[in-house]
Amino acid sequence: MLDKIARSSAFLAPLLAGEEHAVGLILGTGLGGARDAINARHVVPYAGIPHFPVSTVQGHAGQWIVGEIDGRRVIAMQGRFHFYEGYSMQEVTFPVRVMRALGVKTLVVSNAAGGVNPDFQTGDLMVITDHINLFPEHPLRGKNEDALGPRFPEMAEAYSPRLIALAGEAGRRLDIPLRRGVYAGLQGPSFETPAEYRWIRVIGGDAVGMSTVPEVIVARHAGMECFGLSVITNSASSAKTNHEEVQEAGRLAQPRAIALVRELIRTMYGQTTK
Ligand code: HPA
Repeated sequence: MLDKIARSSAFLAPLLAGEEHAVGLILGTGLGGARDAINARHVVPYAGIPHFPVSTVQGHAGQWIVGEIDGRRVIAMQGRFHFYEGYSMQEVTFPVRVMRALGVKTLVVSNAAGGVNPDFQTGDLMVITDHINLFPEHPLRGKNEDALGPRFPEMAEAYSPRLIALAGEAGRRLDIPLRRGVYAGLQGPSFETPAEYRWIRVIGGDAVGMSTVPEVIVARHAGMECFGLSVITNSASSAKTNHEEVQEAGRLAQPRAIALVRELIRTMYGQTTK
């Protein structure tokens, strides 16, 4: 694994031209269109990067972008790898390892999620304050690579309180209402049964989705600061959930999600990161 990370990052490193790129973005639902906000200097299809898995899910293009948002240097993944697609947890989280190897300090992730908090409505944006890991596999299972992070990483502030606060201020400045809540991550790909949605609420979830948790665990293992944003694309109380509904709600929420993340990046940049 260390070898693979080294080879992928050696391939991508020249694209950074020796400049620090402190922010890494995983453009999930809600942020796919942030691609247009990035002044891209390099766009590399995943297939061209050594050791990279290739993204297959409908609605997710797979490319690695190096560029700037409002003058701030960023690396962005357009399209991510989901566990339900059949990738191993090591594959799902590999790009985060590569980002870290390239010097990324802060990871910004978005996703689509079903709202199980009864106050939430379709189209809401939820700043993730914490997560519950319900995946059947753990990305850190197996021999620990001490060079990458500790055997038993703590997860007390997996989602940076500093960035949660900055996002709150950004939301107020831009007049974008924000929810806050706990993201329960499970493998999918079936949506939850009504009993499962109720269970997720009971155990403390506000929203549920099929991504983000593995990437954030690995980012924290690697000592990165994390920020997560969920687009509530459907409500657990509505009769049925389908992929089209999720995508449509994601599209509608996108301008707000992008505006918020741009403002967040503007304000996080230049401040000390952990
Ligand atoms: N459940 C799981 N994942 C999801 C959902 C959901 O209801 N909506 C969007 N992603």
